[in-house]
Amino acid sequence: MNTAKVAAAKAALNHVIDGSILGVGSGSTADCFVDALGASGIKLQGAVASSVATEMRLKSVGIEVLDLNSTGPLDLYIDGADEANAQLELIKGGGGSLTREKIVAGASNQFICIADNTKRVETLGTFPLPIEVIPMARSFVARELVKLGCDPEYREGAINDNNNVILDCHGFEINEPKALEQTINAIPGVVTVGIFALRSADLLIIGHDDGSVDVDNAG
Ligand code: A5P
Repeated sequence: MNTAKVAAAKAALNHVIDGSILGVGSGSTADCFVDALGASGIKLQGAVASSVATEMRLKSVGIEVLDLNSTGPLDLYIDGADEANAQLELIKGGGGSLTREKIVAGASNQFICIADNTKRVETLGTFPLPIEVIPMARSFVARELVKLGCDPEYREGAINDNNNVILDCHGFEINEPKALEQTINAIPGVVTVGIFALRSADLLIIGHDDGSVDVDNAG
């Protein structure tokens, strides 16, 4: 058990409203959140999951999983991140669920990011930037990414929930996250890039190893 992730996950429970429909992300911190939610006694109308793994975990703690097409806009989305800067712009997709995560985040009025203290960075880009790509476009997209100055690595054998592949891009120093998000998303064959800057988080809850948390607004 990672005390910092659990601390951030439990602190997020304070923002969850009984009877609401919640968006829930993917990864180990989101898993801590689902476990805490299951044990909390909070009664949701249901949840929208950003991956098949999260869908199964939500069901395992007795939470009904709903289709985003039937819910309308969500009040709140809670998810982890691989990196977060002071503007609450994120890198996500270490687990390969970035597109569904971006969809649910985009459909939500508020996005709370939960993370352990290792995820806070000054400049995004040390974590290899994940990009979800249509399989037949993989080599073409990789060549276009090299032109942008990074070193893309094919995540061998990893097919995500959308049957797409992931390129992990090394060597990007991301000084203008919104611009790079738009540039990469415009490459034909890219489904989405794991920069969450156009729709950044609204609140960042950082957990520490001693069980304490910091709560940051953007800025
Ligand atoms: C999943 O695709 C990701 O976006 C996760 O949110 C991210 O990788 C953080 O994962 P952990 O909570 O496991 O560190």
